[in-house]
Amino acid sequence: MDKIFIRGGKPLSGRVTISGAKNAALTLMPCALLTDEPLTLRNLPRLADVDSFGHLLNQLGVSTMVEGARPEDFGRVMTLRAGKITATVAPYDIVRKMRASILVLGPMLARAGEATVSLPGGCAIGNRPIDLHLKALEAMGAEIELASGYVKATAPKSGLPGGHVVFPLVSVGATENAVMAAVLARGETIIDNAAREPEIIDLCRCLVAMGAKIEGIGTERLVIQGRDRLHGATYQVMPDRIEAGSYACAAAITHGELELVGARHGDMTAILAGLADAGVHIEERPDSILVKANGTLNGLTLSTAPFPAFPTDMQAQFMAMLALAEGASVLTETIFENRYMHVPELARMGADIQVRGRSAVVRGVPKLNGAEVMATDLRASMGLILAGLAAEGETRVHRVYHLDRGYERLEEKLSAVGADIERQSDG
Ligand code: UD1
Repeated sequence: MDKIFIRGGKPLSGRVTISGAKNAALTLMPCALLTDEPLTLRNLPRLADVDSFGHLLNQLGVSTMVEGARPEDFGRVMTLRAGKITATVAPYDIVRKMRASILVLGPMLARAGEATVSLPGGCAIGNRPIDLHLKALEAMGAEIELASGYVKATAPKSGLPGGHVVFPLVSVGATENAVMAAVLARGETIIDNAAREPEIIDLCRCLVAMGAKIEGIGTERLVIQGRDRLHGATYQVMPDRIEAGSYACAAAITHGELELVGARHGDMTAILAGLADAGVHIEERPDSILVKANGTLNGLTLSTAPFPAFPTDMQAQFMAMLALAEGASVLTETIFENRYMHVPELARMGADIQVRGRSAVVRGVPKLNGAEVMATDLRASMGLILAGLAAEGETRVHRVYHLDRGYERLEEKLSAVGADIERQSDG
């Protein structure tokens, strides 16, 4: 298994190109199931999760073709075509590796009239149920059966009628599944308490480009008139706000200066406000964001919550940064239980963090020391990378496959701006 080796203490400086958003890619790719015409996605990040999603779609009968991307380019163009859906089962061995596989449920049900997806099971960041996905599809007229670890959704013979979905809590994935099912329903669907994440907006815009009729995009009420069919489209995946936020933290924690090329400030208001409160200089430019450390970092009080509030996917990276701030910080995780797996690893590097229920109290220390640490999930791994970049001495981050799921060419991007970082393989 590969490791990432870092010699810390180098301030980063330069320009980092932000890749296409992983979480947008994983909801745009299943849109291909909604039409027999080609869907071309530009700026698709080169990530393990995108490859896995491609393989899953291939199993369902979707052809995927990657166009002439040179190895040195970031991103790629993929054309997906579901001329005919040849299978309607997403098997356990794919779903267990990638929870986002559940996002084939809605579109496959809408187009093929049935869909069977393995239950995702437990996950490193707590128990993540899919009840909201299922209730939404039921509210739109699907019949749901659970058997032998699989969920089977079936539409009436005449197709899904559509309906009124009221989410009791905000779920990104459940909103995405409901929207993708609704665009091919026979009638109108209203989704209340919809997630408003920028990735949902990206999904809706892509669907509109494919001929869908959606009102209220970007609000908590989406009103969708189902269409008989959608057509093909070409769509550009939005920039990754979590990758951009992670590099912003890298500039701050190493007392450096990075220009995040392509990052969109409107998608990152809470992240940028958090950085500014911590004393980091932020400059919004037309096509980039400049992030510059300004002497010492201040402690912060932050709670994760659905967009537009501070994202749970940035909690671990902020925690690493605040481990070196002056004074105490309190981070409260309201989205996922058990999302503090990075805390014991950061403690091995000298961080002073105490978890009390859903909150973590971080008392800033003057320095962190390099250590051998273990990545436990995607964003936790990035927290460890950030700590390693700032630490004195050498850090080895084990189980790098977590990072490969969500950060396109991480070592390459970081070394280009001055980090002493390399990938080591066990051979
Ligand atoms: C998506 C993102 C993930 C991010 C998360 C929250 C993708 C591929 N992943 O995950 O990176 O951390 O949003 O911003 O886009 N819940 C239920 N029942 C359900 C579904 C969710 O109780 O059926 C709960 C979850 O356990 C969690 C909360 O709702 O506590 C929010 O989860 P959700 O927004 O659904 O996260 P994902 O879509 O899985």
